[in-house]
Amino acid sequence: MILIIDFGSQYNQLIARRVREQQVFCRIEPPSISLEAVRGLAPEGIILSGGPASVTEEKSPRCDPGIFELGVPVLGICYGMQFMVDALGGRVAAARKREYGFAELTRIDSADPLFRGLKAPRTCWMSHGDSIARLPSGFRITAATANTPVAAAADRKRRLFGVQFHPEVAHTPQGRIILRNFLFGVCGCRRSWTMKSFIRQAVDEIRRTAGEGRVILGLSGGVDSTVTAVLLHRALGNRLTCIFVDNGLLREGEADRLKELFARHLHIRVRFVNAARRFLKALSGVSDPERKRKIIGRVFLEVFEAEARRIRGVEFLAQGTLYPDVIESMSAYGGPSSVIKSHHNVGGLPRRMRLKLIEPLRHLFKDEVRRLGRELGLPAELIWRQPFPGPGLGIRVIGEITARRLQILRAVDRILLEEIKAAGWYRRLWQAFAVLLPVKTVGVMGDARTYEYIAAIRAVTSRDAMTADWARLPQAFLARVSNRIINEVSGVNRVVYDISSKPPSTIEWE
Ligand code: XMP
Repeated sequence: MILIIDFGSQYNQLIARRVREQQVFCRIEPPSISLEAVRGLAPEGIILSGGPASVTEEKSPRCDPGIFELGVPVLGICYGMQFMVDALGGRVAAARKREYGFAELTRIDSADPLFRGLKAPRTCWMSHGDSIARLPSGFRITAATANTPVAAAADRKRRLFGVQFHPEVAHTPQGRIILRNFLFGVCGCRRSWTMKSFIRQAVDEIRRTAGEGRVILGLSGGVDSTVTAVLLHRALGNRLTCIFVDNGLLREGEADRLKELFARHLHIRVRFVNAARRFLKALSGVSDPERKRKIIGRVFLEVFEAEARRIRGVEFLAQGTLYPDVIESMSAYGGPSSVIKSHHNVGGLPRRMRLKLIEPLRHLFKDEVRRLGRELGLPAELIWRQPFPGPGLGIRVIGEITARRLQILRAVDRILLEEIKAAGWYRRLWQAFAVLLPVKTVGVMGDARTYEYIAAIRAVTSRDAMTADWARLPQAFLARVSNRIINEVSGVNRVVYDISSKPPSTIEWE
């Protein structure tokens, strides 16, 4: 296990991904982690991440310097290296020249275990204002760049290594080799982090945590809650009860698909609650996006809680929380997800119902959940499903939601997805969906004038939904989709394509 101490770098999750790609388990912890807790984790190695602060400032984040005395190898990256140098008696100073961008490593110490197997040119990615002015005793320079005399340094005896550049980013092409050298050459890790081993451990842990208790889980139809359900079912069998709330804001056929999957394929019982009318009623006359989101969230909670209270002896609430959310919520620096749109979750439910939480995916990244799903035998169609927001079509019918508008949007959306899948675009896109604009414009059909709604198509590429770009779908494809929508869906006589990126727009329209 590798411990990553998070000094606030925008790349800290990337470091974790790179380590896990090598089938080595790792955890990210804040600098406030105690030395006792570090010992308890018994890491095979420690990586100190980069960060925006400067060790020359008084309030810069620091972890217990006792970690350097544990006899565990340490790799400091950027700020992490500077912190190590500072903590061990060296000196860090503001650099004469800020270095940002590509640089070439020169004067490499060929005996350094970190740089074994690197080939020229050894390009790396730099992004720092401070530099190392004096190394602590025991350290030697192991690489330099034109602007940075100490681009890397090591105390091989104590197995302490530092790099000023970022080996975790794609802009350091041989960064993977460096990280691999650290994990296997220096720390002696084994490739033991596989989804098979995860399933074994997770099932054991769920059994230990749940004891004889009953667990409830809300299903959304997405991959996270489905994988959670399968894992819990393996561990607890019928002591798991899944609840699915149909809010009437789902895509066409979605509820039936979910029923079919759970009944026929997974053999997991699900309590379906059809609350479509209740949601529509609560939303009637409301057109403000934030109010719509709040209402959908509140009604969901009410319906879910009422159903949960009907099940006797429930002690646990399971959730498909993923690692990025866990890291963000514990990060001292605040995550990037500032509240622009309120997402709904089960909020205060556990406290009100005195339930304990079970979150078996809380250490996994999304790509790992997908691999886990495959290992658990879930169909590829589900594993690769694009994200779908909790408030569903409720935030894709702009303005007031009515049954007729939902019906129109469902038909448009079905055609779009059929065509996206047929053209082989589904997996290449982060999301593709339709939005209904309750604005009427004039058209002509046959010889008659029409006066109907506009449908907008949104298709974006993205890595993580933090930023997104509109997809350059082929014109012939867009023409076909537009034709089909206008011909087949009554109520729509105009189709437009959204060509805005995020930022400054967002992916969803509301
Ligand atoms: P935006 O519109 O903020 O969306 O660019 C970013 C990603 O989040 C999804 N999204 C939601 N997911 N509940 C969710 O579970 C929500 O309330 C919600 N709102 C937006 C959106 O589909 C995109 O993938």
